[in-house]
Amino acid sequence: MSQPNPLTVAVVGATGVVGRTMVQVLGEREFPVGELRLLASGRSAGRTVEVRGRSIEIQEAVGEAFDGVDIALFSAGADISKDLAPQAVARGATVIDNSNAWRMDPNVPLVVSQVNPDDLAWHEGIIANPNCSTMQLVPVLMALRDSVGLERVVVDTYQSVSGTGAEAIAELEGQIRAHVAGEQKHAAVYPHPIAFNALPEIDVFLENGYTREEWKVVTESRKILHLEDLRISCTAVRIPVFVSHSEAVHVETRAPITPEKARRLFAGVDGVVVNDDPASHEYPLATDAAGRDEIFVGRVRQDPSIPGERGLAFWVVSDNLRKGAATNTVQLAELLVERGQVRARSRRQAVEAPA
Ligand SMILES: NC(=O)c1ccc[n+]([C@@H]2O[C@H](COP(=O)([O-])OP(=O)(O)OC[C@H]3O[C@@H](n4cnc5c(N)ncnc54)[C@H](OP(=O)(O)O)[C@@H]3O)[C@@H](O)[C@H]2O)c1
Repeated sequence: MSQPNPLTVAVVGATGVVGRTMVQVLGEREFPVGELRLLASGRSAGRTVEVRGRSIEIQEAVGEAFDGVDIALFSAGADISKDLAPQAVARGATVIDNSNAWRMDPNVPLVVSQVNPDDLAWHEGIIANPNCSTMQLVPVLMALRDSVGLERVVVDTYQSVSGTGAEAIAELEGQIRAHVAGEQKHAAVYPHPIAFNALPEIDVFLENGYTREEWKVVTESRKILHLEDLRISCTAVRIPVFVSHSEAVHVETRAPITPEKARRLFAGVDGVVVNDDPASHEYPLATDAAGRDEIFVGRVRQDPSIPGERGLAFWVVSDNLRKGAATNTVQLAELLVERGQVRARSRRQAVEAPA
C-alpha cells in the first residue's frame, strides 16, 4: 500500500481469539493504524496489553468509544454487533463485522476479498465478514463458477474448536488432560465431550433440521457468489482440532472438467494453494494450515457418480482464525483504503455531489 494517512482503528472483542488475531494481522500487514483502540467487555476494561512494544489499555465497548474512529473491526458476538455497530456508524465509523448479525441483510455487503471486492462500493457503514466455513469455500467455488458453471455443491465440514472461541479451546485441553489422568471429562461449551469425538451440531438447530452453521454456508455462499439459486447442502461437524477447518467438497459442474484443469483453476485464484500429491501423502492438513493465510486444496479427483465428467471431489483446509476471520477482515479494510471507500457510500456521494 502506498503511504495512506494513518487511521484510527478500533477492535471490538480485542481480548478474544479472533480479536487478538486481528491485532496481530493489522501489525503483520502494516495496516496504516494511527491510533489503535482495543475494546472488550467491562470485565476487561483497564487491563493493558502489549502491541508491538506499546502498552494499550483495554476500554469498555460503549457508543462513545467510537468517537473519532475510522474503521471498527467487530468480533464480540452477534448481540454486541447488533447493539453497537449502528452506534459506531452513527459516530462516523465504518464497521467490518465478524458476527452473523448483518450477513444476510440486503443492505450490507458480505465480502470475501478475492471473490466479490466490488460489493464494498455500496456499503452504508457496515460490511459483513462471512462465516469461517463459507470463507474458505467460496474462492474455490468461484474458480469453477467462472469456468464451467456450478450445478450443485455438497460440503461437509470438519471444524476446529477455536471456531467457537477461547472457552472451547480450554475445554478441549481440559478434556485431553482429564483423559490422560483417567478422570471424567466435563463438557460445558459443547453438549458432549469434544475430545476424541465428532459432534454434528454447530450452532442451533433450525426448523428444517439443519444447524444454523450449515445454513450459513448455504445462504452466505449464494450471496457472495451472486448465485441466488445455487443448489448447495452442508453438514457441519466439530472435531477435536485446535486450529483450521477442513472441508470435503463435492461439486456437480455444468460443463465437463478434469481434475487437472480444476487444479490449474484453483491455483490461479489469489490466496489459494494446491497441495495435491497423494502418492507422497501430500494433501492439505489442519496443522500445516494453522498460522497461514492461504486456502489449501488437495485430493482433487473426478466424482464418477456424476456422468459426463461433470463431478469433482476435493479437500479444502484453511486457518479459521486468519483467512476465516481476521485476515479477511483486514484485507477488506485494506481494499476500503485503496479504493477510497472507507466512508459509507451516501457520505462519499454527499461530498462528491456538486454544490
Ligand atoms: N473463532 C472463529 O474462528 C470465528 C470466525 C469467524 C467469526 N467469529 C465470530 O467472532 C466473534 C468472536 O469470536 P471469538 O472466537 O474471538 O470469541 P472469544 O474468544 O470468546 O472472544 C469474545 C470476545 O468478545 C468480547 N465480549 C464479550 N462480551 C462482550 C460485551 N458485552 N461487550 C464487549 N465485548 C464483549 C470478549 O471480551 P471479554 O474478554 O472482556 O469478555 C472477547 O474479547 C463471534 O461473533 C464469532 O462468531 C469467530
